[in-house]
Amino acid sequence: MSIVVNPWSGSSQWMAELAKHLPDEELLLWPDVVDRDAVEMVAAWRMKRADLASFPNLTTILSMGAGTEQWQRDGTPPVRIVRLADPAMSDEMAAYALHWVIHFQRDFDAPYGVDDLSNWGSGALPVPAPREHRVGILGYGTIGRRIGRAFTELGYPVNAWSRSGTTDANVTSFAGLETLAEFLGTCDAVINVLPNTPATTGLITAERLSQFAPGATFINIGRGTVIADEDDLVDAVDSGPLGAAVVDVTNPEPPTASSRLFGHRRIRVTPHVAGSTQIPTAAALIAANISRIRAGEEPFPVVDPATGY
Ligand code: GLV
Repeated sequence: MSIVVNPWSGSSQWMAELAKHLPDEELLLWPDVVDRDAVEMVAAWRMKRADLASFPNLTTILSMGAGTEQWQRDGTPPVRIVRLADPAMSDEMAAYALHWVIHFQRDFDAPYGVDDLSNWGSGALPVPAPREHRVGILGYGTIGRRIGRAFTELGYPVNAWSRSGTTDANVTSFAGLETLAEFLGTCDAVINVLPNTPATTGLITAERLSQFAPGATFINIGRGTVIADEDDLVDAVDSGPLGAAVVDVTNPEPPTASSRLFGHRRIRVTPHVAGSTQIPTAAALIAANISRIRAGEEPFPVVDPATGY
């Protein structure tokens, strides 16, 4: 039984890395598949539903990305979906979040008086110390916890919001929708890492935006769909309460050329680069899951169809 490999890019590196860990497997680079009946697993970033449906013996999709919404649309064969939970990607996302939280906390856009050498440093503004700058993480799974650890280690107080809460002793836990307003209202910076599910789509409405603390920074590195309407986000930066926004993900992606997100002094846009799939580490994790399946064990993490992540 074979495994179809369908990466977004870097095909030869993916094939080489997977083959290194799985020397006895038949790995087929899509679309070079002759015997579709023999396909048992697909490792891919995306794939057309009709192509997936053409493998009658498919049991498992191994996602090459952290997000798995692309595998949960109507018409996708109802097979087991294994997420990619790569610590290397979580590290990158934590670094991205640190960068932007600190950028706006310390107002690094300000001139800081470096142009006045006779009065060196006179423009330095008093900034809140880390212990006075509360960071909120919307979505406290693998990536959220890594981000939380990055901030707590530097002395930032951290709020963590999720559906069911956390017992993590280093953070203040908020569980469920009824706590969301309080969570948003007590953070100086909020980082969204929620997955795209029916429950998170459009979660941040204009009303929710009005619940942020005055001057707060909102950083979206989860999915653009969490924002109900991007115009409302821009309005919340223009008229308050937000002080700044950073969006690595948008809806649609890329944004339209006329999007108000562009060219705004206090909104930064990056093109979905906060955390990328790194082939060597990702291939090792996917290969380990394939080996588990071959040994009759459960791969992990498997998406729960009830929650969508
Ligand atoms: C990137 O957004 C991913 O889902 O891996």
